[in-house]
Amino acid sequence: MNELFDLRGKVAVVTGGGRGIGLMATTGLLRAGATVYIASRDLSSCREAADALSELGRVVALGHDLSSVEGCQSLAADVAQHEANLHILVNNSGAAWGAPIDDYPEKGWDKSMDLNAKAPFFLTQALLPLLTAGARPGDPSRVINVGSVDGLRVPRSSNFGYSASKAAIHHLTRVLAVELGPRGITVNAIAPGPFQSKMMEATLKEFEHALVAASPMGRIGQDDDIAGAVVYLSSRAGAFVNGAVIPVDGGLSLVPAL
Ligand SMILES: NC(=O)c1ccc[n+]([C@@H]2O[C@H](COP(=O)([O-])OP(=O)(O)OC[C@H]3O[C@@H](n4cnc5c(N)ncnc54)[C@H](OP(=O)(O)O)[C@@H]3O)[C@@H](O)[C@H]2O)c1
Repeated sequence: MNELFDLRGKVAVVTGGGRGIGLMATTGLLRAGATVYIASRDLSSCREAADALSELGRVVALGHDLSSVEGCQSLAADVAQHEANLHILVNNSGAAWGAPIDDYPEKGWDKSMDLNAKAPFFLTQALLPLLTAGARPGDPSRVINVGSVDGLRVPRSSNFGYSASKAAIHHLTRVLAVELGPRGITVNAIAPGPFQSKMMEATLKEFEHALVAASPMGRIGQDDDIAGAVVYLSSRAGAFVNGAVIPVDGGLSLVPAL
């Protein structure tokens, strides 16, 4: 059974892999045996995370701002300097912006859309040669997008650009699954509920009790919840799953938003 989830010999890129949900994904991939490239704007914090994770496996830190197409292309070129094949791409980097509708700024809309919806598309595009090279018959390369419960149901918080960007990445996942399946690449998304992270710090400080009370499972997410979903979608166990948006939320998206 372990062999079904074995990722030894696989190469992965996790954007924003140095902290929060990206770090949970990176840790899972390393524990399953993959080499993982983690990339975000702050190279020094990626290096710190890579040092801390190094006893689990090979981790390489790269510094790139993915909010522009050029940034996505420069990360892809950097990965291509190191590797001829890529097997797993986790598009995790993300940003949120909340403001009342009367004051919601263009800056917040663009920030959310650029990083949460546009970057996964253009990074996937830029990495297609490596992903195609990594695909094997019966063992496709994998793209895993990180969406959100806020893209599944209407949130109560005023995060208009964020929730729209997450619904967009869910649908882009389905569109790309059909486009890239014939090239030997699956495209899936996970839609997390609340997890501890820098992005969620203020929200959880105020609302964790209420979120836990509303959750059918009576808790927020934990590291292994992300690790398990990402390893499943990356491994032979998940090879026939394509175009799925998997809520990793304990069922929170099925109940009315707080
Ligand atoms: N935590 C939750 O409850 C939750 C729930 C649903 C969905 N999510 C999603 O999970 C993903 C990770 O979020 P998180 O909660 O772990 O938050 P986080 O701790 O704030 O992580 C965000 C990550 O994105 C990176 N990033 C931000 N701007 C970037 C840019 N311009 N270029 C490249 N990387 C950039 C950050 O690194 P740098 O600052 O170094 O660039 C960081 O690694 C996001 O897509 C988020 O929407 C989170």
